[in-house]
Amino acid sequence: MLKKPTLVDSFDRPITYLRVSVTDRCDFRCTYCMSENMKFLPKRDLLTLEELDRICSIFIRLGVRKLRVTGGEPLVRRDIMDFFRNMSKHLGRGLDELTLTTNGSQLSRHAVALSEMGIRRVNVSLDTLNDEKFSRITRWGRFDQVIQGIEAAKTAGLRIKINTVALKGFNEDELLSLVEWCGRRDFDITFIEVMPMGDIGNMARLDSFWPLSDVRRRLSKAYTLVDLALSTGGPARYVKVKETGQKIGFITPLTHNFCESCNRVRLTCTGELFMCLGQEDRADFRQLMRAHPEQDEAVAQAIHQAISRKPKGHDFDYSRHDVVGRMSRHMSHTGG
Ligand code: 5AD
Ligand code: SF4
Repeated sequence: MLKKPTLVDSFDRPITYLRVSVTDRCDFRCTYCMSENMKFLPKRDLLTLEELDRICSIFIRLGVRKLRVTGGEPLVRRDIMDFFRNMSKHLGRGLDELTLTTNGSQLSRHAVALSEMGIRRVNVSLDTLNDEKFSRITRWGRFDQVIQGIEAAKTAGLRIKINTVALKGFNEDELLSLVEWCGRRDFDITFIEVMPMGDIGNMARLDSFWPLSDVRRRLSKAYTLVDLALSTGGPARYVKVKETGQKIGFITPLTHNFCESCNRVRLTCTGELFMCLGQEDRADFRQLMRAHPEQDEAVAQAIHQAISRKPKGHDFDYSRHDVVGRMSRHMSHTGG
């Protein structure tokens, strides 16, 4: 059999991981992510589910082995479970892992179906365990609903990783309780440094920037942290808590350079491929796919071309003056 062709960029990094944002919409309005009166894209600008299916399938044929579905909130897109079902058919046939990042609000409804399709893990965003603070940070979210969603996912046999954005003056005091809450349930937890993406209204994001070096320092007062070599090719670094065996991740895109091992690209809900989260360069696939409805080869070629432009590294810098929304696009458009 022919060896599977692999996408390799000009720095010899194999591209095996595609993150795809299926909607820019969300049922929450987290203050660091969105403004309260977010304007969402008109439906016609979004890739249809058929187009998403087509381009993801081409990526898988070209060597992508891991697909993460993100948003916005992926589970609020209508008929998204059909898309998951179609993607799950690639599992074991090129695709090793299908997964999603969710705010958890719809997990009660969908966890069993996701598990039955062969999805093994979900990342759920949760920044606080306090009901009132949860309402404050998500503006529209309901804490109970998310906790029930997480429980449903656990019951359905999904492995759960909690993503917590580290926010100075917001969840500093919950550091240990979050870790312990996850530990008791056998969930992994990853802390994320807040990133300068998208106009979020008046809130000064820089004020809530809490470096993970400090998060880690505080954790190491309570636990013995052992560095794990384990790398997912992404910006996360992992440690193990010696006392409990629990895994803790740190995503520090601003203070560490992780680009040399980058194996991923991101497709937005409008069909733009971003070769790097921290750069503006992109390739448009919506037009291209609509111009070539039958010719997957044209799309495949354009993917190869785009990958060859993948830059060496990112360009985030909090020292610049326009940090509030330095990247003009929102995380919910590109996918986290
Ligand atoms: N900085 C860091 N994390 C963010 N997220 C959304 N916007 C930002 C931002 N500006 C997080 C969400 C979720 C993940 C997908 O991205 O909280 O955990
Ligand atoms: Fe929605 Fe996630 Fe953004 Fe919160 S951070 S508004 S849950 S997309």
